[in-house]
Amino acid sequence: MNLDGKVAWITGGSSGIGAALAGELARRGARVAITARREGKLAEVAARAPGEVRPYPGDVRDQEAMTAVGRRIEADLGPVDLAVLNAGTWEQMDVADWDSRPIREHIDTNLLGIVNCLDAVLPRMIARRSGTLLGVASVAGYRGYTRAEAYSTTKAAAINLLESLRIDLDKLGVNVQVVNPGFVRTELTEDEDFPMPFMIEVGDAAHRIADAIEKEKAEAVFPLPYRVGMKLVRFAPVRPYTAVSRWFARRSARGSESA
Ligand SMILES: NC(=O)c1ccc[n+]([C@@H]2O[C@H](COP(=O)([O-])OP(=O)(O)OC[C@H]3O[C@@H](n4cnc5c(N)ncnc54)[C@H](OP(=O)(O)O)[C@@H]3O)[C@@H](O)[C@H]2O)c1
Repeated sequence: MNLDGKVAWITGGSSGIGAALAGELARRGARVAITARREGKLAEVAARAPGEVRPYPGDVRDQEAMTAVGRRIEADLGPVDLAVLNAGTWEQMDVADWDSRPIREHIDTNLLGIVNCLDAVLPRMIARRSGTLLGVASVAGYRGYTRAEAYSTTKAAAINLLESLRIDLDKLGVNVQVVNPGFVRTELTEDEDFPMPFMIEVGDAAHRIADAIEKEKAEAVFPLPYRVGMKLVRFAPVRPYTAVSRWFARRSARGSESA
């Protein structure tokens, strides 16, 4: 995809990967709309962008609000060529103190948030027989991870949703991409005390995602150790996978206690 002059909508554009990607796509000539709840942060991202970035505040959990945002973007900028479904939340779970709230909240934001944004743009993409959907999921969607009952569940669901859409939207002229990053230094990871190997900076992540868009990659997994490692982990048999994961969980619990 040649990004020059394309209309891109990025959810989760007030910080982290979404904010950095907004700048990167604008630098490559796209006209960018960004959505998130914090209006002040959106305005800051738009103000410091090296090209056209416009704020469209909203909560991805609100279906009607997302449909209204989609219509306003198309009225202002024209048809959305690229929708980057990136807004997301992450919270560790402690199953010993069982509470299903984090699971419900992750589903509302990380899964139904994507669905609400599909409502906002997909029918018109299908009518036009053109457009690209890009979902930012995570390598955490490839298997269940310790203390990630809420997060891994929604990222696995997002990967499968996008995979099904890729199959069925092809004949309707809509492309579907998925990006599964490893650890990226953002607000989402800044307060965590567990090991985060091969962490990359947010500018690097944005650059890789923009490259994946231009190359129309169906799937981008980065950095390299995750691209290789996660494919292997996906095929690991259940018992050894669980045993190794338990060992890592105990080790990182000891690490955070002694920290
Ligand atoms: N950082 C990592 O290591 C990593 C790794 C793999 C995947 N990811 C994924 O990358 C995506 C971006 O995360 P990030 O690391 O850039 O974290 P971040 O800096 O915390 O950004 C999350 C973004 O999502 C927005 N958001 C959250 N809930 C929302 C809601 N209900 N409605 C609208 N916007 C909402 C936030 O904006 P407001 O708070 O202003 O609404 C913010 O702009 C997420 O989907 C995350 O799961 C991150």
